[in-house]
Amino acid sequence: MKKLEELSVQEKLRLICGKDNWHTEDFGGKLESISVSDGPVGLRTMKETDGEWTTIPAVAFPSVEVLANTWNIELAKGMGEALADECYDRSVDILLAPGVNIKRDARNGRNFEYFSEDPVVAGEMAKAYIMGVQGRGIGVCLKHFLCNNLEDDRLHQSSDVDERTLREIYYRPFEIACEAKPVSVMCSYNRINGVYASENRKGFKVLREEFGFDGAIISDWFAVRNRAKSAMAGLDLEMPFSPENYEQLKADYEAGKLTDEALDACAGRVLSLISRCKKMQEGKGAVLSVEERKERARAVAAEGMVLLKNEGVLPLSEGAKLAVSGMYAAPGKENLNMLAGGGSSQVEWLEPEFDLPARLKERGFAVLFEGAVGFNRPEFLRHDGRRALLQASESEVSIVCVGTGAFVEYEDGDRERLHLALAQERLIREVAAHSAHTVVVLFAGAAVEMNEWADNVDAILFAGFPGMGGDAVIADILSGKINPSGKLTESFPYFYEDCPVCQLTSKIGVTRYKEGLDVGYRFYDGGIPVRFPFGHGLSYSAFNYSGLSLKAEGQEVAVRLFVENDSARAGKEVVEVYVRECAPLVYRPQKELKAFAKPIVSAYGSVPVELKLKFKDFAHWSTGEDRWVADDGVYEILVGASAEDIRLKGKVKLEDGKFTVLK
Ligand code: BGC
Repeated sequence: MKKLEELSVQEKLRLICGKDNWHTEDFGGKLESISVSDGPVGLRTMKETDGEWTTIPAVAFPSVEVLANTWNIELAKGMGEALADECYDRSVDILLAPGVNIKRDARNGRNFEYFSEDPVVAGEMAKAYIMGVQGRGIGVCLKHFLCNNLEDDRLHQSSDVDERTLREIYYRPFEIACEAKPVSVMCSYNRINGVYASENRKGFKVLREEFGFDGAIISDWFAVRNRAKSAMAGLDLEMPFSPENYEQLKADYEAGKLTDEALDACAGRVLSLISRCKKMQEGKGAVLSVEERKERARAVAAEGMVLLKNEGVLPLSEGAKLAVSGMYAAPGKENLNMLAGGGSSQVEWLEPEFDLPARLKERGFAVLFEGAVGFNRPEFLRHDGRRALLQASESEVSIVCVGTGAFVEYEDGDRERLHLALAQERLIREVAAHSAHTVVVLFAGAAVEMNEWADNVDAILFAGFPGMGGDAVIADILSGKINPSGKLTESFPYFYEDCPVCQLTSKIGVTRYKEGLDVGYRFYDGGIPVRFPFGHGLSYSAFNYSGLSLKAEGQEVAVRLFVENDSARAGKEVVEVYVRECAPLVYRPQKELKAFAKPIVSAYGSVPVELKLKFKDFAHWSTGEDRWVADDGVYEILVGASAEDIRLKGKVKLEDGKFTVLK
């Protein structure tokens, strides 16, 4: 039984409702069923023993925000491949990932699961991830469509967004990711302009008719309010099975509220999803050993950690005497959720070990360790602060490990503020006051306010939620074995109050996206200083940019330049290309990222970098014409090492749809 014509109406109604929590309906074995599981940073499958459900341990990858900070397309693809292999081991057909929601608000409890405040970075990294997973034959479910940018009240609130902002900021990462042909998309819980995401007929039409999406649309878990209405809008599969919704659906069908045409369309797409997934797997299977998958996780951590500040203390001198403090350095098996965000993406670590002091000792350092301060919640704060201070005063360098974790950053809730716990801030300040040099290693999934301590310390390494093997990666970065190359994919403001969304008034139940296009650096570019800008990250190498040449190639502009390494260390450098329209006819942000590359440059070497800007990279969404329009005019091309560190500039003129380069 594989064809739509072979299904009765009752069977079709049943098929579009899912079988249980994680499977599609199989009619007692008459139809193949597919199995789905979370994502995005490790596989979360469950098993039942004596009526008790537990999570099966899996390889824990760094958080998506660390992956994004690599700006490395190959690593995103490689992580996708390793995750697909994990799926084969557990007979999972679809990984419920990746999520490409824009980091509109730094407080969003789920920012650690998302890529960026910028739609191009989010879209391109997600596209590569999808190509990795699906290239191996496992399906993905791109989520959460659409405008689920805060967690508080996510089941009810409506995101009120104008069409241009939707197109340029919130749809855009989905549009780019759809180029990788995801087999499914997951709708979110919230409403968009008053309409539930599960009934977002307009959005589903854009996905299918404009973004070339040819898969099935699946609901977020329990996001369907009215199954008939959602099916009429084009939501193909409700997950998980809800007996009440199913009974209501049957009654609504009888009452003529669901047409046969809409039912056939949904059931047909569920059937296609099942056969497509099975076909994709033909002749394929897991390729990497568990050891190789762990290596992929470490590779992401190695390029995704961001050296935010370094006043010369890093890399550490060989054999230095170190005082490590803060429980995050070695939280113990039972506290690994200090090193991850919480919710459906949380993975049970296959190897529940994280011990930075041990990894530093292995690398020849003399290490004293005192946990001193732990969880970012008062009931867990543990002090043996005096010991930490004594150790700091007798060491050459203090390493203070602080952060957030699953108690602070989690699904279904947002952070109230962006600071660390007061006790952690105090630990940093006091250790810094007793130390010759202080390095802060920060474990978090999103921006953190640092006003109380950033100026007191010599170096800050943003380790993110580093995943399994992250302790060794941090030790390698601190010791200099790994040359850091991550850059931020979200701005770190000085104060939450500086954020574009902070001053906006929202009513209960309604979030107005009044800042429009001015999300993240698009807003700060208007003259609001930030602690660390979008695109910022330091290296142990010193890079120079030179020789910008622009070449108009029909509807494209080729951007060429050289990156030179003026140091004795090989390193990788993220090169960011922004476009600014001079004298636009409509409001446009100061500049917008349109392309990026990450070349490796040998010691004292130089490499050519070439990037392509397409016509659409110059366009805005015209609400006057309901399409992308690039107006005739002059455009500046800005090549930078961060949004605030523009190194090279050039200009092109667009006239009658053709580019010419201006000298
Ligand atoms: C989350 C999804 C997740 C699903 C299944 C929902 O609560 O929003 O991201 O895939 O649960 O666990």
